[in-house]
Amino acid sequence: MRIAVAGGTGRIGGLVVTELTRRGHEAVSLSRGVGIDLLTGVGLRQRLEGVDAVIDATNPPVADIAEAEHAFATITRNLLTAETETGVRHHVALSIAALDAVAGNPHYYGKRAQEREVAAGSVPFTIVRATQFHDFPAMIAEWTVVDGEAIVPPLLVQPIAPADVAAALVDTALDAPLSASFDIAGPRTEDAVDMARRTFTARGTDLPLRASWQGAALGVEFAGEVLIPAPGTRLAPTSFDEWLAAGAR
Ligand SMILES: NC(=O)c1ccc[n+]([C@@H]2O[C@H](COP(=O)([O-])OP(=O)(O)OC[C@H]3O[C@@H](n4cnc5c(N)ncnc54)[C@H](OP(=O)(O)O)[C@@H]3O)[C@@H](O)[C@H]2O)c1
Repeated sequence: MRIAVAGGTGRIGGLVVTELTRRGHEAVSLSRGVGIDLLTGVGLRQRLEGVDAVIDATNPPVADIAEAEHAFATITRNLLTAETETGVRHHVALSIAALDAVAGNPHYYGKRAQEREVAAGSVPFTIVRATQFHDFPAMIAEWTVVDGEAIVPPLLVQPIAPADVAAALVDTALDAPLSASFDIAGPRTEDAVDMARRTFTARGTDLPLRASWQGAALGVEFAGEVLIPAPGTRLAPTSFDEWLAAGAR
């Protein structure tokens, strides 16, 4: 099949392109880096000619709630309009597990706006809601370094390997649209501070950490079990330990 990957040059999108190619499919990357700005949609229609399905793994840079809602909604509308014009049969959106349970975070407002556009659109769809990726704690630690010390919020998570997210997106795109969402998580719960520390050790990065909600990249609305998936959630196989042992990439 011919499958377009919006955000195909990004963390998950790049893995999706690799996985599609490995399985013998044709991947068409869509990102500003390859000349397609999905906020304008210029040139998008031509790029979607002959495409069977679109996987959206974009992550536009945003500063606040209004910008997040605008960017995710606009990218989704532009994709869906071009998909309708070119006869794309399945739109697959990568979203976040527990999206509705977290208030106040601009990125989550953007993702909810994205999901609303997908559900209201006329292209058959599936929304894949993944938990935090195995590299998420190290990533958010690097966002908040104060006086040489990274502040990590003490999150409880059930993280998933980036390659397992990519595989789930490809499986979904090759399957029939559900016109619904499903959640996918990794195999076990983890402590984000421990994960960040062990990721930096595995990567040979010398960055002291401090566990705190004060000044951290995420606020207390993420505390407790809010990010833990409900019983019955699909589980991907690769544990955090296995991901670390394989190089933490
Ligand atoms: N991190 C987590 O733990 C987690 C968990 C669950 C779900 N997610 C979701 O996963 C998604 C992907 O995350 P990621 O970490 O893979 O993102 P990423 O590495 O930051 O990649 C983002 C991609 O979006 C593209 N992009 C951004 N703005 C664009 C625009 N205006 N037009 C076209 N392409 C644009 C980027 O390419 P250019 O810059 O070249 O345009 C890049 O290819 C996010 O939407 C996030 O909500 C993340």
